[in-house]
Amino acid sequence: MAPIELLLIGVLAIEGAFGRLNSRQPSGYTPHRIVGGADVPPGEHVPYQVSLQYQTRNGQMHFCGGSIIAPNRILTAAHCCQGLNASRMSVVAGIRSLQEIGSRSKVLSFTIHPDYKELVTSDLSVLYIDPPLEFDNTTIGAIDLQSNYVGGGVPVTLTGWGLRLWVPFPYLDDVNYPNVLQRMSYHTITNQECRNAGMDSVTDTEVCARGPFRGACSGDSGGPLVMRTDEGLKQVGIVSYGLVVCGLFISPDVYTRVSTFTEWIVGHLEF
Ligand SMILES: *[C@@H]1O[C@H](CO)[C@@H](O)[C@H](O)[C@H]1NC(C)=O
Ligand SMILES: *[C@@H]1O[C@H](CO)[C@@H](O)[C@H](O)[C@H]1NC(C)=O
Repeated sequence: MAPIELLLIGVLAIEGAFGRLNSRQPSGYTPHRIVGGADVPPGEHVPYQVSLQYQTRNGQMHFCGGSIIAPNRILTAAHCCQGLNASRMSVVAGIRSLQEIGSRSKVLSFTIHPDYKELVTSDLSVLYIDPPLEFDNTTIGAIDLQSNYVGGGVPVTLTGWGLRLWVPFPYLDDVNYPNVLQRMSYHTITNQECRNAGMDSVTDTEVCARGPFRGACSGDSGGPLVMRTDEGLKQVGIVSYGLVVCGLFISPDVYTRVSTFTEWIVGHLEF
């Protein structure tokens, strides 16, 4: 099975300009989301999570996740930005459900990592947004970056508005695409374990995680994988790619390894 990037391709396909990405899809494929997770409970927030949205003819549509690293900076995947028109992108913070209004900021510009190579390395990008977010640290706040190398066997948590099913059910979009943020926990594995599990091209700039019948899916791209430390939560990874069928048995998800890029990211908190 082919590896695939995890953005919500259907939205971008509407634009017509994304034949390249769309052509990655086998026939009958439609985008999907986190598998094997659960709703973030009512009243609870994941303050660092944002929805990356694109202005289409049908209105604002969620297509990727991202994380807040400063009041006016969002960390996401390069493939969530590549080829897109920044002036049609915005981020929504402070929401649990995509139906909430939350706090919307325009994307003024983005910087894709210069070494980005699709499905190979450096799949990260920093968005510069306006107006800056107002932190209350409960519904909206920043996530710290994990600057230490993370090995295998570490419990990690992913959040996103991705599909809940392994493949989308036809005509059941309310089931396929929950509006409520999903949260799912599994473990990192070593890069060698990841290659052994079929993700042949995984490099040191990436980190993998897996768990039984769970995983990231297309609308989850760019979203944050976090771990608990003595100093609070830290972001370990950025959703990059996985297999076409999400959460299949114990297939791994591949993330951009944040610790490889902390210097570059911090260097882009001001530009
Ligand atoms: C980007 O989108 C804006 C707003 O829709 C539009 O005015 C502009 O022409 C677009 N730029 C490109 C390069 O497509
Ligand atoms: C939120 O957390 C940041 C970093 O810990 C802190 O500087 C800021 O004062 C906090 N803001 C509020 C409103 O608590």
